[in-house]
Amino acid sequence: MTDNPKIQQLRELKRQSRLGGGEARIETQHKKGRLTARERLDLLLDKGSFRELDPFIIHRTTDFGLDKQKIMSDSVVTGWGTIDGRLIYVFSQDFTVLGGSLGEVHAEKVVKLMDMAIKNGAPVIGLNDSGGARIQEGVVSLGGYADIFLRNTLASGVIPQISAIMGPCAGGAVYSPALTDFIFMVRNSSYMFVTGPDVVKTVTNEIVSFEDLGGASVHSETSGICHIAADSEADTLFLIRKLLGYLPQNNMEDPPFVDTDDDPLRRDDELDSIIPDDPSKPYDIKDVILHVMDNGEFFEIHKNYAMNIVVGFARLGGHSVGIVANQPAVLAGVLDIESSEKAGRFIRFCDSFNIPVITFEDVPGFLPGTVQEHGGIIRSGAKLLYAYCEATVPKLTVVTRKAYGGAYDVMSSKHIRGDLNLAWPTAEIAVMGPDGAVNIIFRRELANADDPVARKAELVEEYREKFANPYVAASRGFIDDVIEPRDTRPRLINALEMLSNKRDSNPPKKHGNIPL
Ligand code: HXC
Repeated sequence: MTDNPKIQQLRELKRQSRLGGGEARIETQHKKGRLTARERLDLLLDKGSFRELDPFIIHRTTDFGLDKQKIMSDSVVTGWGTIDGRLIYVFSQDFTVLGGSLGEVHAEKVVKLMDMAIKNGAPVIGLNDSGGARIQEGVVSLGGYADIFLRNTLASGVIPQISAIMGPCAGGAVYSPALTDFIFMVRNSSYMFVTGPDVVKTVTNEIVSFEDLGGASVHSETSGICHIAADSEADTLFLIRKLLGYLPQNNMEDPPFVDTDDDPLRRDDELDSIIPDDPSKPYDIKDVILHVMDNGEFFEIHKNYAMNIVVGFARLGGHSVGIVANQPAVLAGVLDIESSEKAGRFIRFCDSFNIPVITFEDVPGFLPGTVQEHGGIIRSGAKLLYAYCEATVPKLTVVTRKAYGGAYDVMSSKHIRGDLNLAWPTAEIAVMGPDGAVNIIFRRELANADDPVARKAELVEEYREKFANPYVAASRGFIDDVIEPRDTRPRLINALEMLSNKRDSNPPKKHGNIPL
């Protein structure tokens, strides 16, 4: 309590500012099953750590009755706080104020925050819940968005940027999250699209719901726009906290080391029998990942999108690592358009933020067919190749089974600056699989054979013995060592430590021209 009238006035103003659009609108927000902007901040940040910026800001518009709707703080709450003790900048759009719409001062608040984050080298998290450009402010709102897009782009590769879509996110507004590193969505409560169902109906005659057009399931499974879909707002915010634990604050820092009680020398006998005897049988590469990583923990990104490749973060001997792994359990682990783009973008993130990349390789090649060729697999595969080639972070590769054709080159091979390329004895490293190879090089002989089926079986076996192993590649030095699968964890941890002072760079340039 205080008798000082000035302090009383300050407290009253702050109380009003914190109330946003008022009790009734807060209730409406809750009725939709959604939290308010400030409740979200409470869940996201360490308790009591939030420091607000610009709580007194008020929009300057008078058109269309906005002179009667002047609400302090406007439709976004901005500031900084900590997550697990580490500095974080955050903005949280307040749907209770003019539908979270973005006008001049809303944009100014976000821009101020982002400039601070870039200057001080800490991640920015955006919690999006907005009706888009504030219609009453017209082109000024569009300018505000563009100011933010510019900051998103300039901050890319400098500080991690994370977007959570907690409600509507439509029109050009989607492009700010799309420019950030990771997009989280809440199932059945958030959506993103460039044009909504009404416009879609007018233009294309399609009738589609908000959820089916741009809900979390669509974007986490079909479009790949969303990296992580969570079941509730609380889960979404919890997962953002978890993700940040693997990331450095900025591109000049190494990711945080978290001591682990999982023995770095732990050998895992189960890995010795994880590969089926029959090379055409699938297995789950995630089992390999879980057996090798600290405490069997793996933070998967894009879990339900392009599942023929697996990407995500884990720790090895306490060091944060990015994992890229072909998944033989889905489409035999083949590389296609989606999986190439998914992995390529992930590798570029890791490289931007000094996170070593560990590749587990079991890939029969690129997916054939007109759908892939006409869809641009050449360009998409080149993206993945480019990402691996340009990455200068430590790159470790373990070939568990197949490494065939162009996919062998692409998946962090020695030739594109793989630092340590290991293979299991089950590895098959060759220009193509035995069946396809025999069909081509022995076509004439097979056509003239008395018993083509039996002869083919003989030739396939001969080829398999000669080439479907790791030793031809190892004899050339393309594989640095062939290891027992049980030794994978200690060997990778040892390699990470051996590479801890790695310095490598690319030729000076303005920027490369990745095949977009
Ligand atoms: C101003 C807005 C607004 C907007 C919502 N509101 N969107 N005010 N500008 N863009 C206001 C509403 O008028 C309403 O005020 C309050 O916010 C809550 O909105 P409701 O419609 O009652 O909420 P709900 O039923 O949940 O619907 C949410 C919604 C809908 C689906 C987002 O509001 C909507 O369709 N809004 C317009 C979306 C849109 O077309 N935005 C422009 C996109 S173009 P009152 O006082 O009545 O409660 C764009 C271009 C960006 O964003 C380009 C960047 C390059």
